[in-house]
Amino acid sequence: MSTENNTMISGSELAAKLYHHLLMNTEQGKDAFHYLTERGFTTEMINTFSLGFAPNAWDTLAHFFDKRKVSLNIMEQIGLLAKRDFDGKFFDRFRDRVMFPIWNKDGKVIGFGGRVIGNDHPKYLNSPESKIFNKSKILYGFHIARSEMRKNNEAVLFEGYVDVITAWQAGVRNGVATLGTAITDEQAKLIRRNAESVIICYDSDNAGLKATYRAIEILEANNCNVKVANLPEGYDPDDYIQKYGSEKFRKEVINANQTTMAFKMNFLRKGKNLQNEAERIAYIENVLSEITSLTNAIERDHYLRQLSQEFSLSLNALKQELYRLYKQKK
Ligand code: CTP
Ligand code: MN
Ligand code: MN
Ligand code: MN
Ligand code: MN
Repeated sequence: MSTENNTMISGSELAAKLYHHLLMNTEQGKDAFHYLTERGFTTEMINTFSLGFAPNAWDTLAHFFDKRKVSLNIMEQIGLLAKRDFDGKFFDRFRDRVMFPIWNKDGKVIGFGGRVIGNDHPKYLNSPESKIFNKSKILYGFHIARSEMRKNNEAVLFEGYVDVITAWQAGVRNGVATLGTAITDEQAKLIRRNAESVIICYDSDNAGLKATYRAIEILEANNCNVKVANLPEGYDPDDYIQKYGSEKFRKEVINANQTTMAFKMNFLRKGKNLQNEAERIAYIENVLSEITSLTNAIERDHYLRQLSQEFSLSLNALKQELYRLYKQKK
């Protein structure tokens, strides 16, 4: 690795230590610590995930790097500092935020997510892409989850930092997150190298459900055995755990996961009036089209029978239509 990359990583590591210290041991960090406590973060969670606090000042980090002879230019390249236009002076880019270090596969800090304390906008400010930080290649929490992922041969995929951390506290320790909702091929491969099965546990809102649909395709294309957690609509994993507790989360959300086909059937019927003939037929066509991509004959039979029963259709008609869709697909 180039010396520049080394400086970028060691600077990030130093910043993470400073932010953590400011959160845990200083007067400035009290409000942030209180905010985390109110949200249910324990000291164990804060320590394990090395959470920190970036003070509401322009030069905390700039001054700290300067004193330690860390190149301010290089710290600007990774977005920890920014440069003032009119006099070229460096200042802190993250201010008044709870800081979540983001690690590479080896557990080295390569970036940060900074969350506002309260409800301001933007809610999250992330490190920009840089020579060391490529968010489409890494999974948040990977180095912490890795051994459990391998042991269980299963990973749980979340949307956010907070979900990974809360789930960890709730006893789900094989959780990782895509930073934002779109999973990439590279992230899918990273999971697959460590576990065969993946339970997707994205937020149960519109964006999360759509992202789940896409994640299923990408993970299955990478030979993962995919399941979808059973999170009631309107919740994200953290909301659910705060409201219903750890045990219910493990039992009724993670362990009570659904097949991807069951998820898709629920998703496809959302907002449709199945009493209406045209909408009902469109739904059935959509489901049949999904059934064409099932490789397992028993599964195909299962869902065909389910459709046949629900809509009082002959199995024969459904099979004919399925056959037509197969030919169309080729
Ligand atoms: N995210 C981001 N920038 C945003 C919003 C979201 O980078 N403006 C990423 C963050 O990694 C965040 C994840 O997407 O953790 C999920 O977003 P969201 O569901 O909005 O955040 P939560 O983790 O639920 O945030 P919180 O519970 O702290 O409100
Ligand atoms: Mn600590
Ligand atoms: Mn979300
Ligand atoms: Mn969320
Ligand atoms: Mn949340």
